[in-house]
Amino acid sequence: MTVTSKDGIKRTRGDKAASVRKLTDLPTLPGILIKIWKLAESPDTSSKDLEKVISLDQTLTAKVIRLANSPFYFSSSHVNNVQDAIVNIGMKTVRSLAAAVSISSVFKKSRTANKNYFPLKDFWRHCIGVGVTSGYLAGIVDGIDRDFMFCAGILHDIGKFALNILFPDKFGEALQIASSERCSITAAERKVLDTDHAHFGEKLAQYWNLGDDLSGILGNHHRALSEVDEMLRIETALLKIADSIVREIRFGFPGDFLGGEFDPASMELLDLSTEKIEQHKDGVNRQIEKAAELVDLI
Ligand SMILES: [Fe+2]
Ligand SMILES: [Fe+2]
Repeated sequence: MTVTSKDGIKRTRGDKAASVRKLTDLPTLPGILIKIWKLAESPDTSSKDLEKVISLDQTLTAKVIRLANSPFYFSSSHVNNVQDAIVNIGMKTVRSLAAAVSISSVFKKSRTANKNYFPLKDFWRHCIGVGVTSGYLAGIVDGIDRDFMFCAGILHDIGKFALNILFPDKFGEALQIASSERCSITAAERKVLDTDHAHFGEKLAQYWNLGDDLSGILGNHHRALSEVDEMLRIETALLKIADSIVREIRFGFPGDFLGGEFDPASMELLDLSTEKIEQHKDGVNRQIEKAAELVDLI
């Protein structure tokens, strides 16, 4: 039985992660992000509406314009205002970037985090890589929303950032175990914390009201595909493969040193083969190279 409590976090009976209660120690998301999130969801929102909100935050304004002019999005003409930037890169992408910037600033404020074992920039690099690769793969698999996948990819590992802040000693221990035993960070987290970043990320996304689909996919990304709700199975499979590709090309640091093995069930569901992925590797690499600059924006 699942119960939704006042804080919006869905708790399942026997939820082993009593630690989830600690999530309410994290700050709520900045109001501006909540507004941007809602606006980008609505089909009636115009780029002007979104511009009005973004313009209230100077840092975000500058970052959105820089993003639109970065090699990843740059088309033909230089953009110097938010509205043109939104038109160029799309509302949902702006939303994903705004989310990454806001969430990153929430996590950067912590003094407790393990700076040595958990280099924030390298973790974000991994997340951006998975966002870009998920978006790319969504373009070659039918019926998947590219913007949603970009966003899910960028945010897929936010549970690690939260664990790092709320349980710095234990998360540090998990990182050391993952390194010394050459196991996955997920397995090490389960060993030390009795939960993992996917479960924690799902609860965090619920607490921050980021939507059921997004919180669902965050929670699913280290689950066996057969255990994943059918509604999100294709998206989860795609995220799993994107995560493996980014691990394999070693873009950023995911918290352990394992390479990227492709989950056979996900490959089958997406009708992908190693050869097919190999054919797209140059395309993915080019996108990721162009996206490297996005890491500095976050
Ligand atoms: Fe993960
Ligand atoms: Fe990951």
